Amino acid sequence: MSDLKSALSACAENVEIVLDRLLPKTDNPEARVVDAMRYASLDGGKRIRPFLVTQSAALFGVSESCAYRAACALEMIHCYSLVHDDLPAMDDDDLRRGRPTVHKAFDEATAILAGDGLLTKAFEVLADPLTHENAKIRADLCLALAKASGDHGMVGGQMLDLVAEQADLNLDIPEITRLQRMKTGALIAVSCDFGGILGNASKQARQSLNHYAHDVGLAFQIADDLLDVEGDAEEVGKATGKDEAAGKATFVSLLGVERAREQAHLLADQAASHLEMFGEKGEHLKELANFIVTRSK
Ligand code: IPE
Ligand code: IPE
Ligand code: MG
Ligand code: MG
Ligand code: MG
Repeated sequence: MSDLKSALSACAENVEIVLDRLLPKTDNPEARVVDAMRYASLDGGKRIRPFLVTQSAALFGVSESCAYRAACALEMIHCYSLVHDDLPAMDDDDLRRGRPTVHKAFDEATAILAGDGLLTKAFEVLADPLTHENAKIRADLCLALAKASGDHGMVGGQMLDLVAEQADLNLDIPEITRLQRMKTGALIAVSCDFGGILGNASKQARQSLNHYAHDVGLAFQIADDLLDVEGDAEEVGKATGKDEAAGKATFVSLLGVERAREQAHLLADQAASHLEMFGEKGEHLKELANFIVTRSK
């Protein structure tokens, strides 16, 4: 296994352990929502965002226990966004991470509540002194994650995505770029910023990471859109061919497969070039940029 692959799987294993602890099973009468939250977040996913958090935190010598708690809080937001994204009112998907989506395995109301539960739990974890002893750092984490997840970030991007689909808008490249930077890029950018916040990094270091994340975020969504066209549903773990059927505006629909792929590779190379200041320590992050655009799931 390559260095990057083993680092990714080590990260995924740790995420599993920490999430399992943060979301303990219960026998209480409300257990159903906890079961659904666990179903939505455990045992699946590439854990790219936690990897970005923990790798960027490692650049600044942050303790692993702090980094993983923050990483798992952020992953909870990501998992919640997937649960809601799959609902019949949104993308109406039956398969996620190779398994029935939460509303299929449970029911729609439980899926909505499980998403709400994960969203709220993320901030509970970040605000807990166990995540960091310094209250200012905890508040900065909460603020950054709230901004990236809400109407200026992921939620706003999801709205644009639906509006464009429903109104059959023909978005141009700058409009799609903005949509995707909000929908997907914002959570990826805050993942890298978490490392800088936890590590009290210099402005220059945070800026370099931010430039990296900016390019990686866009490359990531282009790769997701390419997988929707070219991927193997079984391997990707979710239905493919859905974007075109729904008339979604993506880089692929606008540029075609070849040019979209070129664009993704260009962005990945550009992303890596922003990490020069970190030397050897930035190696995994650089490799990740390439992995993101060559992945098959
Ligand atoms: C899928 O994200 C949703 C998008 C933002 C495009 P991932 O590809 O990171 O999904 P998992 O977490 O690995 O399942
Ligand atoms: C959703 O994008 C991104 C989120 C904010 C959840 P997609 O709708 O393309 O994600 P997939 O393809 O269902 O994973
Ligand atoms: Mg969607
Ligand atoms: Mg979707
Ligand atoms: Mg997609």
